[in-house]
Amino acid sequence: MKRFQKYIHLIDLNDYPVSWWKHLLELAHEIREDPSAYSEACKGKIMGTLFYEPSTRTQMSFQTAMLRLGGTIIGFDNPATSSVAKGENIKDTTKIVSGYADIMVMRHPTAGSVKAAALTAECPIINAGDGGHLHPTQTLTDLMTLNEEKHTLENLTIGLCGDLKNGRTVHSLIKAMSCFKGNKFVLISTKELALPTYMKDILSASGHSFKEVTSLDHAIEELDVLYMTRIQRERFASEEEYLAQKGCYILDREKMVRAKRDMIVLHPLPRVDEIAIEVDDDPRAKYFDQAKYGMYIRMALILTVLRCDGLPAPLIVGRTIPKAKCSNPKCITNQELYLPLYFTGSGDTVTCEYCDERTLL
Ligand code: NCD
Repeated sequence: MKRFQKYIHLIDLNDYPVSWWKHLLELAHEIREDPSAYSEACKGKIMGTLFYEPSTRTQMSFQTAMLRLGGTIIGFDNPATSSVAKGENIKDTTKIVSGYADIMVMRHPTAGSVKAAALTAECPIINAGDGGHLHPTQTLTDLMTLNEEKHTLENLTIGLCGDLKNGRTVHSLIKAMSCFKGNKFVLISTKELALPTYMKDILSASGHSFKEVTSLDHAIEELDVLYMTRIQRERFASEEEYLAQKGCYILDREKMVRAKRDMIVLHPLPRVDEIAIEVDDDPRAKYFDQAKYGMYIRMALILTVLRCDGLPAPLIVGRTIPKAKCSNPKCITNQELYLPLYFTGSGDTVTCEYCDERTLL
């Protein structure tokens, strides 16, 4: 069953064709060259930001993006001071805000939550991070950084290092970069923080080569891009499990000596201890530039979504299966029990349409 949308929601970048991403990258480039030409482009429009989880860059870059386009903003960044604290569900909160705003941006700790909101939203909604699942606008930021700094999105050897299990930026970036030819992926993590199986399946299905290694020291020499990530403390079941992983990878000046002269270091930020401060002065460290690119690409995205430029993606492509439930305890369908359940695939193992995890029937 396909349910088409009136709006261009952005839940998962891969819902849209690569040509649409390229349009965003081109527009972001133009905006960066001449921001004043866009200073009234969203005059009279209101953006609602619903941040159920902490954020600095994503929230402020969305807000500044809208303000720089001439629009205004409403929203909350502390659910404790909104009706969420009284027990309001996602459906009610987002349906109400979508009646007040022209575009919504939502971050939530649970996988699939933004898709759940999109089912009943009355304006476009953008996923600013749903639990450990996806973070498409960080990926747009990463694509813009690669495009501007490496001048290509193809034939790159990309090392992803750190918490590959819980890092949503990693998941979104791998899905996106596996759409471009010739990219190779080096997955650098401890056994405990390895990339989830469903993500490895996506990589295998795309035909791209990837390998899993535990040593950053050994891997660094062959990389064109090193994407460092923080160990996602808030997604661990216990503090002990987090402490066992903390500090497992630290990029320092000594390791950078072994890297290619044109390798670039990216990080979605915030950094904890995984990149030593001494690396900041290395011209290959691009993570602060990356955060700035994020503002331009979000301006391009807001503009494109509000202009309804492009074909809205189908929100639901799967079907309901009697008695089937998603087996992922971190999926929104196991928290907000009124949600209709949809699955794709056939046979004994199907995929939950909200969180992408596999469920055994
Ligand atoms: C990332 C996130 O929230 O997933 N931060 C961001 O949006 N720039 C990465 C992180 O928190 O580690």
